Amino acid sequence: MYEQVSHSLLNSILNTLPADLIKSDLRHFYTRLGANFYAIYSLMKQLYGQRDDFNEHMQKLVEVMARQYQKRSQTLHELDLMREKNHNWFLDQQWVGMALYSDGFAGDLQGLRSKLSYFQELGVNMIHIMPILKCPEGASDGGYAVSDFRQVDPRVGSNEELAALAADLRKREILLILDVVVNHTSREHEWAQKARMSDPRFQAYYYTFPDREIPDMFEHTMPEVFPQTAPGNFTWDADMQRWVMTVFHDYQWDLDYHNPAVFIDMLDIILFWSNQGVDIIRLDAVAFLWKKIGSTCQNERESHLILQLFKDCVQVSAPAVLFIAEAIVAPVEVIKYFGEDAINAKECEIAYNATFMALLWDAIATKNTRLLWRSIQNLPAKLERATWLNYIRCHDDIGLGFDDSDIAAVGYEPKAHRRFLIDYYTGGFSGSDARGIAFGENKRNGDARIAGSLSSLAGLEHALQSGDAAHIDHAISRILLLHGLILSFGGIPLLYYGDELGTLNDYSYRDNVSRTHDSRWVNRPKLDWNRAEKRHEPGTIEYRVFTALKKLIAIRKEIPAFADFNNRSLLETADEHIFAFSRFTLRDASNPIVVVANFDVQPHGIASDEMAKVAGAHLNQFRDVISGEVIALQQGKLMIPELGLYWLRVGH
Ligand code: GLC
Ligand code: GLC
Repeated sequence: MYEQVSHSLLNSILNTLPADLIKSDLRHFYTRLGANFYAIYSLMKQLYGQRDDFNEHMQKLVEVMARQYQKRSQTLHELDLMREKNHNWFLDQQWVGMALYSDGFAGDLQGLRSKLSYFQELGVNMIHIMPILKCPEGASDGGYAVSDFRQVDPRVGSNEELAALAADLRKREILLILDVVVNHTSREHEWAQKARMSDPRFQAYYYTFPDREIPDMFEHTMPEVFPQTAPGNFTWDADMQRWVMTVFHDYQWDLDYHNPAVFIDMLDIILFWSNQGVDIIRLDAVAFLWKKIGSTCQNERESHLILQLFKDCVQVSAPAVLFIAEAIVAPVEVIKYFGEDAINAKECEIAYNATFMALLWDAIATKNTRLLWRSIQNLPAKLERATWLNYIRCHDDIGLGFDDSDIAAVGYEPKAHRRFLIDYYTGGFSGSDARGIAFGENKRNGDARIAGSLSSLAGLEHALQSGDAAHIDHAISRILLLHGLILSFGGIPLLYYGDELGTLNDYSYRDNVSRTHDSRWVNRPKLDWNRAEKRHEPGTIEYRVFTALKKLIAIRKEIPAFADFNNRSLLETADEHIFAFSRFTLRDASNPIVVVANFDVQPHGIASDEMAKVAGAHLNQFRDVISGEVIALQQGKLMIPELGLYWLRVGH
């Protein structure tokens, strides 16, 4: 029945499209819409079907999709067709990403454009430029409080400059990732401004309430994202004389997706940026999209429906474009952002692997890989046409988002273990050489998260201060070991700008009133290009880190087993300091690469029997493809030096 209704609705919508649209060449659009319309209609119906104006919204939605399809350039139409044919293109091992702030990296977009060869020198071919859309000075959450979704912020450039940059990147075969902050706007955004002037149409874009009755009901079950700096989830707006939901900072107003106009406007914005040549869109804070009294207002079923709807619509107008889900939530929940009940990913093709990230930091602090091993073993399998973004650091804090049950199962008391990790990284544990800062401490429940640059957390800052060469070596080994893992684990490795040069904490945020309360700025550096030059001077930290990473990246790209086709199996090793897994190609599973990392500051070994399980036979030696050296067994054991990393070829 549904199917018939949707069919006749589609016909009537198409018949009433504006004349100029009907006249333009919409061939592929019609085909794709035909294929996706039933799904789109059903999702719209589930979310908004009870409304009297449902059909008008359907009409508007299709018009937006058709209009943006029509505006898409010939080059991008061709890219759509190419990627449709080769639809697993992003699972390939050739992709290596880097996230950066354009101002921190090179001043602005022009500066960034002049530095493109730097990425190629390193081997990076996918760049996530952190938020660059117009936002207020100060109250901007590093750009995540957008005041105009269609304008590049004049402080970093213009839409024209971005278009020129996108074209340059395409020539160099570097992919461009941009953010669309779908969950909220700045209170300075035009919609919020109108809402504040009591325009009912725009008040319906947000969750606003005349008194505390409903907000109090919500608060009952909603956690706090920024308990220190932005306690509570509602803010009183004096202009509007109403409470407004502000889950993040008080100046970030949550959009209300119960209103289909919000969805359609946001889709239009996503397609707008798709048409500027963006390859991948990072959808910020997707776990928060749907709010419901009595729930945590995270990971709600409807948030998934909204993402599916975004995906199906983009599939019609700009199918080349992929989504990244930024959902920093429990492992069983994250996996759902690829799409549930679907053979192919029907929500976001890519998701941050925050679990792996946090577990790596656990293993660094404890020098023990039990929790890492167990949690990864318990991670639910992902869909085939979906992949992780594997990262060590990003612009945000590190939350210890693994499961308490896993912590307990490996023999720690969860609360005490989390406390140890926070102390280890933020100065509360005397044996630690990590130099991080606490973030988001919640006095009521004792929670806290960790800020700090990769190098400072890995001990480099401390080692350089003490001038101890062995400690410097250790810190560099940790930096390389962690990168060696994200480059081989399966997924897209996402480096963070500055880490390729061993950049330490940047404490200058403390002198800036709008940043001083947000310790995440300690890991949002300004790159010093004079220092970057040292990457060519042997012996310097910059040289040691940069050249080693460059090599790892180049080797990754040559190893087909590193492409992400669910082709990994964890090795069980008796030694708890070692983390090891094998990667194989589906064509030749008998010839794997075995990745082996030793998290301890002492050498450790894997028994020959354990290696034989992957190698299929007892071998006396293996070749490490990173160093090119042959590693011979010693007394029946494969020995891995302190903080050592091997990518071993087994077989020939
Ligand atoms: C995302 C961003 C973070 C920001 C938050 C709110 O988690 O990564 O930096 O504070 O969303 O927009
Ligand atoms: C994100 C994450 C949270 C993180 C926050 C700010 O939305 O969900 O874990 O701490 O933004 O960085």
